[in-house]
Amino acid sequence: MSDDSRKVALVFGGSRGIGAAIVSRLADDGYTVPFTYVSREDAANDLVAKVRGAGGDALAIKADSAKKDDLAAAVGTTIDRFGRLDVVVVNAGVARMGLIDAVPLEDLDLQLDVNVRGVYLAIQAALPHMKDGGRIVTIGSNIAVRSGFPGASVYQTTKAAVAGMVKGLALDLAPRGITINNVQPGPTRTDMIGALGNEGMDMVTNMVPLKRMAEPDEIAGLVSYIARNEAGYITGASLTIDGGFAL
Ligand SMILES: NC(=O)c1ccc[n+]([C@@H]2O[C@H](COP(=O)([O-])OP(=O)(O)OC[C@H]3O[C@@H](n4cnc5c(N)ncnc54)[C@H](OP(=O)(O)O)[C@@H]3O)[C@@H](O)[C@H]2O)c1
Repeated sequence: MSDDSRKVALVFGGSRGIGAAIVSRLADDGYTVPFTYVSREDAANDLVAKVRGAGGDALAIKADSAKKDDLAAAVGTTIDRFGRLDVVVVNAGVARMGLIDAVPLEDLDLQLDVNVRGVYLAIQAALPHMKDGGRIVTIGSNIAVRSGFPGASVYQTTKAAVAGMVKGLALDLAPRGITINNVQPGPTRTDMIGALGNEGMDMVTNMVPLKRMAEPDEIAGLVSYIARNEAGYITGASLTIDGGFAL
């Protein structure tokens, strides 16, 4: 495939919420955007139709970020179909709240598997197919900087781990000119935060100095910027976008 072919951005966890906004934004930026989902085939197919309706190209791939083979297969499908990989965004994440005396082992394992192990394995699978000078973006959380409420210890652990992972990988990948950065959203209007219920969402919104949640498009805009050539000197950074919550 010639170097003139359309650039390809693979988004892990792209079917809903922040991931879906990133898929749409990168497609608007001119990328072909394969993305993974785990359960919501309906949402994934709707997003593909939306992107194609707007003149872009996207592909939905079922792949569980908790499964190493699924992650490798998603990368394989991307290369088979599009022949190149320029940008990788690892957005898939799960949040299970609970105080330490009430956290089931399954919730602990699921969050570690998807939010930490899955991020590392996705990047490990993608790297051999990326050209020098590529871009990797993880989606962490501002909770790595400040929790603010009880019951989030496991989720906070996973997002702090991603911030550390990105620093280490930035050094590993610098010789190849591949940058890796971690976008840390604050409360953002998606299904994940909707799970807190109205009372929980009001509580969290009131903790934000700007007194509102982010829209997923606002997070996608920062990812779009990091993917550009002009952002090539940013690496190993955790960029918090949270309306001042963590200050
Ligand atoms: N919303 C917030 O306030 C907020 C704040 C800070 C950070 N974040 C982080 O931002 C990211 C996106 O959050 P969101 O609010 O957009 O969440 P969301 O609305 O719950 O959407 C989660 C997305 O991740 C996918 N996903 C979940 N588990 C997966 C797995 N095992 N394998 C593959 N894909 C999986 C889902 O796929 P399906 O559609 O198939 O389920 C969906 O596309 C997460 O990493 C989250 O921790 C969110």
